[in-house]
Amino acid sequence: MQTATTLKDLRQAVDELRASGTIALVPTMGALHEGHLTLVREAAKKADHVAASIFVNPRQFGPNEDLDAYPRQLAEDSAKLEAEGVALLWAPTVEAMYPEGYATNISVSGVSAGLCGADRPGHFDGVATVVCKLFNQVRPDMALFGEKDWQQLAVIRRMARDLDLVLPHVDAIHGVPTVRDEDGLAKSSRNAYLSAEDRAAAAVLPRAMDMAIAAITGGAEVAKVLGLLKAALLDGGFANVDYAEMRDADSIAPLDHENGNARLFVAARIGGTRLIDNKPVTA
Ligand code: PAF
Repeated sequence: MQTATTLKDLRQAVDELRASGTIALVPTMGALHEGHLTLVREAAKKADHVAASIFVNPRQFGPNEDLDAYPRQLAEDSAKLEAEGVALLWAPTVEAMYPEGYATNISVSGVSAGLCGADRPGHFDGVATVVCKLFNQVRPDMALFGEKDWQQLAVIRRMARDLDLVLPHVDAIHGVPTVRDEDGLAKSSRNAYLSAEDRAAAAVLPRAMDMAIAAITGGAEVAKVLGLLKAALLDGGFANVDYAEMRDADSIAPLDHENGNARLFVAARIGGTRLIDNKPVTA
């Protein structure tokens, strides 16, 4: 595996790979877990070469968020990627990504509104901006993202469509189903922040979501079900619920009735850690 830390080295490595086939990009912020490695394995099935990026993007963290605490473990992550057969790791410094005088921002309205967009102002601008830059830097034939960050995926697809991105084309932006622990909790780099007690309690999140989905598909009133879902999370040890909403899977527009394309989205805090999850509202 080749590791590039400057744009010049990246371009050269990409040109070499491109000469012998297609490239799939897996963008990450590191602290790699099974969810990321699943993205890499899916990428290897779809393209001749897999490129991964590791960049803890300061522009997508709010002033009071966990940018400084976010786990950074490049050597460990690098070994994991190498073991998966990744051909190229792009690990730029903050200065390489945002050189002195950097002034451009990409803001995607509509799909960024509400949910994490409301709780984390500027977050999706930061994501869209860095992902657009990563796409232009690596020019991959395709890119893969976890469905755990469903709204992020919707934002990236909208951006690729709106900006007429060619590499990757919007149709080559693939979502990969969320990887879960045995008790159903979605894998996340932020799970590492949880105490053993909070980690055990956190399993109430996917369980309560499944119950809510069963109630909604069974015909129960959506607002009432969401109220019960919030109460179940608070009873189960969560300190507060940032949101529990049903929205259209593509437009991310709020829904008060199941429309055949609905998803349930939840963000809630336990022991100071904010966890998010989403699931399709299907029987
Ligand atoms: O999902 C993530 O890890 C990040 O938001 C991404 C897509 C790598 C952009 O920094």
